[in-house]
Amino acid sequence: MLDLAFVRGQFPAFSEPSLDGWAFFENAGGSYACQPVIDRLTRFYHQRKMQPYAPNPASEAGGAEMDEARTRLAGLLNIAPDELSFGPSTTQNTYVLAQAFRQFLSPGEAIIVTNQDHEANSGPWRRLADEGIEVREWSIDPQTGHLDPDALVALLDERVRLVCFPHCSNVVGEINPVAEITAMAHAAGAFTCVDGVSYAPHGFPDVGALGCDIYLFSAYKTFGPHQGIMAIRRELAEVLPNQAHFFNGDVLYKKFTPAGPDHAQVAASAGMVDYIEALAAHHGVAPSEAAGLMHGHEVALMRPLLSFLSQRNSVRLLGPAEAEQRAPTVAVATRGPAEDVARALADHKVMAGGSHFYAVRALRAMGVDPDRGVLRLSFTHYTSEAEVTQLIEALDRVL
Ligand SMILES: Cc1ncc(COP(=O)(O)O)c(C=O)c1O
Repeated sequence: MLDLAFVRGQFPAFSEPSLDGWAFFENAGGSYACQPVIDRLTRFYHQRKMQPYAPNPASEAGGAEMDEARTRLAGLLNIAPDELSFGPSTTQNTYVLAQAFRQFLSPGEAIIVTNQDHEANSGPWRRLADEGIEVREWSIDPQTGHLDPDALVALLDERVRLVCFPHCSNVVGEINPVAEITAMAHAAGAFTCVDGVSYAPHGFPDVGALGCDIYLFSAYKTFGPHQGIMAIRRELAEVLPNQAHFFNGDVLYKKFTPAGPDHAQVAASAGMVDYIEALAAHHGVAPSEAAGLMHGHEVALMRPLLSFLSQRNSVRLLGPAEAEQRAPTVAVATRGPAEDVARALADHKVMAGGSHFYAVRALRAMGVDPDRGVLRLSFTHYTSEAEVTQLIEALDRVL
């Protein structure tokens, strides 16, 4: 069982006076940062804030810390160190990758996108239609938001080169079977690009075991700094055209990063691994088992919230009502504009979001007006039972 006191002790936000009493339920928008990340960022700015890799001790320490972050994160994700690269955000990363595929694919070839995705893993790919690439949409069930793997079968044929889909949507919350979908795509000769932004905060995945060719997530939602992280497996990374300076094209981890990286943030990303390793060590498990600890706690907290929301006639829960099938990113359509409800919750010291959260296509497909948006209540493993109670009591008054 998760030792919540230990967990919360790793996050300075929980002892910050200005946040005292506030229950934080907009984690899907960006999580609190853990202490090791903040410590590393501070150290970098104090001691190493210069061009890394220059021949002096401070620059060398900065460069070594950047390499450490990449190597240790890759280890956690079960991929090789040069298969992991950083970029400013997932949106910018998919944009760059789409430029690579723009050059890689030929007119008449096809890609598959979903309408469950955040726009980051949808729009850049759909624009390949301008080059004569056929774009096929794998559509969700309008009632449940479910993405049915059986429906993918009809879309796959020998012309499909890439299938883009989320590990978990940021409004539907249902966890998609990445390994199964990837196996289907591979059998048809297609690569897969998985948006893991909504999933990764609930346990860093074993990307190697999932088998996907690209896995993307955003460190600012996984207790880290504002960086996008890309896992691009060697077989694909080697054949895609270089998007960086011509002399960097042979180095896989530089190939899809056209801009100079944020050195301090890349270095500080090692702090996420420090945290996961400390969490695992405290509980006497391997780092790869930390996800299971987080999941158990999150599922237990989700149950009362989902049961409360399912019984409320004034809201429509998007995605599954069963906690085991989803991440704790729980969106509901409300009668009035969702932002008004979020604002009313703030009067009860509950932080939540009301928006379309860039999942405009998913909301439209489910008959929800994106301008009214959805109320999103999202938490992580550091959330307490008392905070969920505070949320439910506030919802009871506000809805
Ligand atoms: C599921 C999902 N994908 C992609 C993104 C975009 O990530 P970034 O802000 O790093 O561009 C978000 C951001 O909210 C998201 O929730």
